[in-house]
Amino acid sequence: MDPRRAGIERRLHSVKRIVAVTGGKGGIGKSLISSALALVLSERELSTGLLDLDLTGPCDHVFLGFETGLPSEVFGIEPVIHHGIRCMSMAHFVGERPVPLRGEDVSNALVELLAVTRWGELDVLVVDMPPGLGDAMLDALRLLRQAEFLVVATGSRVVLETVRRTLRMLSENGANVLGVLENMQREESVGVEELARCFGVPFLGSLPLDGGLEEAMGDVARLAATPVVAALRRRTGVISGSGFARS
Ligand SMILES: Nc1ncnc2c1ncn2[C@@H]1O[C@H](COP(=O)(O)OP(=O)(O)O)[C@@H](O)[C@H]1O
Ligand SMILES: [Mg+2]
Repeated sequence: MDPRRAGIERRLHSVKRIVAVTGGKGGIGKSLISSALALVLSERELSTGLLDLDLTGPCDHVFLGFETGLPSEVFGIEPVIHHGIRCMSMAHFVGERPVPLRGEDVSNALVELLAVTRWGELDVLVVDMPPGLGDAMLDALRLLRQAEFLVVATGSRVVLETVRRTLRMLSENGANVLGVLENMQREESVGVEELARCFGVPFLGSLPLDGGLEEAMGDVARLAATPVVAALRRRTGVISGSGFARS
């Protein structure tokens, strides 16, 4: 057995909840929602971590504006603390260089990140999942057994097609699904809500398509004031189910 597996359990021992933001499809707002959710939870004084598991296309640092220099290393790697959020990303190690990973390398990089990061005590760790239902998703299901999956979708039929597969995969693996959150809502559409109902999981509401988002990127104060983050703030109680209560 891979000894790093026991290491991962130790590293996550004091993390109360893990919320994995997924959806299967790229470009639907998983990274925005992961970053914004970490922001909203930390505004509530919850100790919050953010792990960008998009190993080849990390971008949470672009949304939140955290530094991507090498983090400090003392018996493991310390997440970078940015506006109170403990952030970890492949971007810390590769800068702007491409990360061409194939097959087993994906798993190894992911396991390594989980095995070395010193999260310490966290109320919640938000995990930004990459697109696809391959290695990273299988590893998350295997290694983050306690994760609760927040599924992002848009009303587009091509997105719904992939999100349906994601929900099926989560269901077949007995994963805990927090619900489905619609992003970039353009007009009244019921596709996402219907999909949630079809799988018997909660529909968590809709976030608007926000034309001002691009300008606010990288600046936490401006991001926090955007309509899309305001809408997410209103949905957080629903997303958290029993509530991200501080204990
Ligand atoms: N609600 C929204 N309104 C406007 N733009 C959005 C919204 N959600 C995401 N975006 C934009 O869409 C693009 C893809 O978002 P991202 O979070 O990177 O998607 P994913 O992580 O699913 O690939 C980014 O440019 C992001 O700023
Ligand atoms: Mg992403």
